[in-house]
Amino acid sequence: MNTTDIIDTAKALVAGDKGLLAMDESTPTCNKRFALLGIPQTEEARLVYRELIVNTPKLSECISGAILFDETIRQRKKDGTPFVKALIDVGIIPGIKVDIGAKDMAGHPGEKITEGLDGLRDRLKEYFKMGARFAKWRAVITVNDKIPSHGCMEANAQALARYAALCQEAGMVPVVEPEVLMDGIHTLERCFEVTEDVLRTVFNHLYIQRVILEGIILKPNMVLPGLACPKQESVDEVADATVNCFLRAVPAAIPGIAFLSGGQSCELASARLNAMNVRFKLRLPWPLAFSFSRAIQQPALEIWRGKEANVLAAQQTLLHRARCNQAARRGEYNASIETI
Ligand code: 13P
Repeated sequence: MNTTDIIDTAKALVAGDKGLLAMDESTPTCNKRFALLGIPQTEEARLVYRELIVNTPKLSECISGAILFDETIRQRKKDGTPFVKALIDVGIIPGIKVDIGAKDMAGHPGEKITEGLDGLRDRLKEYFKMGARFAKWRAVITVNDKIPSHGCMEANAQALARYAALCQEAGMVPVVEPEVLMDGIHTLERCFEVTEDVLRTVFNHLYIQRVILEGIILKPNMVLPGLACPKQESVDEVADATVNCFLRAVPAAIPGIAFLSGGQSCELASARLNAMNVRFKLRLPWPLAFSFSRAIQQPALEIWRGKEANVLAAQQTLLHRARCNQAARRGEYNASIETI
């Protein structure tokens, strides 16, 4: 393990005002999003779409790293350039999703456990050889008044920690993603309580597994009311709850936090990240960045709809969302940017 390289990569991923682009939807998830828009659910269509993203001019001005799916990391652009090389050539660090999905957890109705540890050491070696320098593993925590259970949080946190240790052994930065889902009627206070508990459990297991905190990126949810909760707090209230929760539970040693968007609208994801940076910028031990999938890609996907004629417009929209989030990192996002 070269600890210095790992730490340097982690710092580069959250440097300045850039963030991560998650383009690592699994084949079933990607197909589901394509199906809703009438796009063929084929390997060819997924390749064309990922090429549209990677070819977006100026994307590297706001994106530091892109997370790929196993299918994509093995694919090439039409001109024969492997996606990994195309990203490196424009200065974007390639990353790879390495979990194999969240499955129903035995004995824990309604809860999930993420799988993918078997054979992970060998897969990481292969991805490193292909050029990936960071990885992602997503744990999913469902909320209601009875769950998450202790067993679900412990098992997911331990899996995240074992994955993170293997990544660092392979010379890669682990992006550690414990996602407390937005689905449900739970309040913001309940999300705060669960998120704090989950983060404390995750960092305890990272410590037990001897993960170097200076060489990870945390990819968490924001602290939000459930999507179906009647009370929806303001942007500033969400920003305050999120940062106060993280100040309690996240060690100052980590190089950065890169939020997932989790099903928020694009505008709200940008506005909430912006509010955190405006209200807390000088009081934070870590930079607050983004690692969005839907909140960067969705409008572009809706414009593209599988049609060659729409590629340029889709790329402009993708770049626009990336720029909005870049502005949010600086605390300079506002509604007027949306109309540019
Ligand atoms: P969203 O931003 O769409 O939540 O996706 C982030 C991600 O990578 C989920 O694992």
